[in-house]
Amino acid sequence: MNDLQKNKNKEAGLIFLIGFMGCGKTTLGRKLASRMGYPFIDLDHVLEAKAGMTIAEYFSAHGEDAFRKLESEILKETDYPENAIISTGGGLPCFFDNMQWINGRGRSIYIQLPPKTLAQRLSNEKNQRPLLRDKQGDALVKFIAEKLEEREPFYKRASIIANGLGLNAERTEEMIKATV
Ligand code: S3P
Repeated sequence: MNDLQKNKNKEAGLIFLIGFMGCGKTTLGRKLASRMGYPFIDLDHVLEAKAGMTIAEYFSAHGEDAFRKLESEILKETDYPENAIISTGGGLPCFFDNMQWINGRGRSIYIQLPPKTLAQRLSNEKNQRPLLRDKQGDALVKFIAEKLEEREPFYKRASIIANGLGLNAERTEEMIKATV
């Protein structure tokens, strides 16, 4: 019997999806949660509900430092169920002790994608993201490549590193089940 068969009926606990903006945390997270029968929690949405405004509005009203503090508080103070799929903001693992906290509380999956792919995916929806708003074309790819280099040491502390190209919910569930 392989690990996947052995672990088929074990519960997954808390699974945090991490990675750069545009890597698919929310889309994949939703599908994965419905496939596994777990609730889906999007921490960006929890923050927006708590702040009573969008992230873009919060950034312009209070600045990035205040955003990072609130984001970390929300991570640590959310009342999680026993099992859940949780998507996190792209910068969250890279501030304070958030990554250590995540790995202490559950398991994490880094959805890894190259800068060019991220830029293609983000070019239509970057207006909702304050860090990307004024960038396009080569400047957008360059910004993503630099930020990703800075952030990868944090992302790579994930329990599972998954190649995001062609990644689907079925494959992600298999990876989770193989490691419970
Ligand atoms: C950010 C990513 C965003 C959001 C905020 C900052 C970042 O979340 O938290 O705009 O620093 O990478 P998504 O990764 O869900 O877009």
